[in-house]
Order: sequence, then C-alpha cells, then structure tokens
Amino acid sequence: MIVVTGATGNVGRPLVRMLAEAGEKVTAVARRAPEALPEGVRAVAGDLTDAEGFAGVLEGAEKLFLLFAPGSFAADVPGVLAAARAAGVRQVVLLSSQGVATRPESASHGQLGAAIEEAVRASGMEWTILRPSGFQSNVLAWAEQVRGARTVSAPFGDVGVPFVDPEDIAAMAAAALRESGHAGRTYVLTGPVAETPRERTRVLGEILGESVRFEEVTAEQARAQMLTFMPADAVETTLAILGAPTEDELRISPDIDTVLGRPARPFAAWARRNIDAFR
Ligand SMILES: NC(=O)c1ccc[n+]([C@@H]2O[C@H](COP(=O)([O-])OP(=O)(O)OC[C@H]3O[C@@H](n4cnc5c(N)ncnc54)[C@H](OP(=O)(O)O)[C@@H]3O)[C@@H](O)[C@H]2O)c1
Repeated sequence: MIVVTGATGNVGRPLVRMLAEAGEKVTAVARRAPEALPEGVRAVAGDLTDAEGFAGVLEGAEKLFLLFAPGSFAADVPGVLAAARAAGVRQVVLLSSQGVATRPESASHGQLGAAIEEAVRASGMEWTILRPSGFQSNVLAWAEQVRGARTVSAPFGDVGVPFVDPEDIAAMAAAALRESGHAGRTYVLTGPVAETPRERTRVLGEILGESVRFEEVTAEQARAQMLTFMPADAVETTLAILGAPTEDELRISPDIDTVLGRPARPFAAWARRNIDAFR
C-alpha cells in the first residue's frame, strides 16, 4: 500500500489518481480527510506535525509519498520518518524544492529543505528526491483578479522562469514509486521553457477567449502583499527567484523527459485543464 501525503494538493491529488488508475492500493492523507477520491482509495485524516498520531496512518504501508507543505512547517520530520520505518515502510519519495540547491542561504527554501532531505537520506529507507522549480499552479493566486476584473497584477512581468506542471511532478512521483531504477536519485523538475508572467497572462486570455490585462506592480508592492501570508525569509527568496533567477533556476532540466519519455508540459497545458478557476 502507498501512503500519499498532501493528497488534496496540487501534486497529491493527481498522484492519487495516477496510482489508483495503475491499480495500486492507495491511502490518501491530509489534515482534513480527502473527499471525492477515485474508487477504492482510502481517505485518512493525518497531521504531519504530530508524528505519534501519524504512526496510525502508516500502518500497513510499504511506500510513502512525503511532502512538507506550509501547514506542516513545524513537522517532526525525523519523528515521521522513524514512524514510517517502524511501520514497515521501505521506500519514500520526497517532494522537496529546487531552492535547496539554488538558494542555500535561505532559511525557508535552502536550509529547512536541506535538513529535510538529509533526514530522508539518513532514514534507512530507499529514497528518491524530487526538486521542482516554481509550480505553474502558483498562478491560482491570480484567479480572483482574473475572474473579477480580467486583470493580473504581478511583479517582474518580463522575467521568465521555467515553472513546472504539478501533474508532471505527480507523474515523476508515480514513476519513482512504481518502477525500479530511481533509488538514491535526486531529480530536478522544470517546465520545458521559461515563460514570463506577461506571457502566462496572455495564455490565460487566449484560453478564456477574452483579453486579460497585465499590470506590473513593484517588488515593494508584491512584498507587502506576500507578507500577509508568508514568512519574511520565504517572501525574500521567492521574490529573488521571480525577479533575479540564477543560471541554475533558468536551466531546463532533462529529468522529466528522461524518466517519463516525453517532454515536460508547458503552461498552456496546465491552464487548459484549470481554466474554470479563472472564468
Ligand atoms: N508552489 C511552488 O512553487 C513550490 C515550488 C517548489 C516546491 N514546492 C513544495 O511543494 C509542496 C506543496 O505541494 P502542493 O502544492 O501539492 O501542496 P498544496 O496544494 O499547497 O496542498 C498542501 C497539502 O498538504 C496538506 N497539509 C498541509 N499541512 C499539513 C499537515 N500539517 N499535515 C498533513 N497534511 C498537511 C494539505 O491538506 P490539509 O490542509 O487538509 O492538511 C494539502 O493536501 C511544499 O512542500 C512546497 O515546499 C512548492
């Protein structure tokens, strides 16, 4: 049985679907037990900040897809991993972040991520680590403005970064969980091309069949808005990635192509699947 954490999220939901379609036995976990799951998938409520309580979720599991989402920043990572091992889990696939390598000085992206990766590598279980770039789904933050005023207000309108489709991340996780040859591997996951916020806005407009206006805001305005829901260090690192990506953050990774045997998907594919959020 495979336990999928973050099962109601951008990556976890499609991962649960892919594993169920492939005939795997799946337990889908989030703090609020997931609903509307594929037939046969078990839904369980579990909190990663409570390693002891989480042990019950892991009973009977052989494999674990693990993420530490913002709601689990206080998670007891070694505790959760020890509980997994004690429950008989022999393989873990970790959703990490490219920032572990590209922003080592950042407490949020680099240092916390590196500590979590290290705990996974030292867990005694077989491991695979996924390091995605920014998610294409981050534009859901624009949905309300697009619905209400057909406008996107964002900083760094002409800076492109190769954001990745969360369904590609899920497909990589499914491959790592189901196929051999991925143990001890760390994969970097990016999109196929660096697209700018202005280009993403145009794509949304084309799919909606209506023009959507792009309005550039200053980094200062973006910072003030982001500080309302993110810690200061995470805000600074995110702004740096969006406004001044490093060479490594601009490089298109071959890993999705190599493992899945098809190219990574561009933003337009994500946008077509999710356009209802913007109508
Ligand atoms: N967005 C990006 O650009 C980006 C880039 C690189 C890496 N990442 C990484 O991707 C991960 C987020 O993935 P995502 O976008 O698929 O997630 P998401 O859509 O933000 O959803 C988070 C999921 O985790 C669950 N969750 C939150 N806190 C939890 C807790 N304490 N215990 C158990 N489950 C909890 C949520 O459900 P409940 O709220 O019901 O618990 C939900 O299922 C993070 O680890 C982040 O660092 C993101």
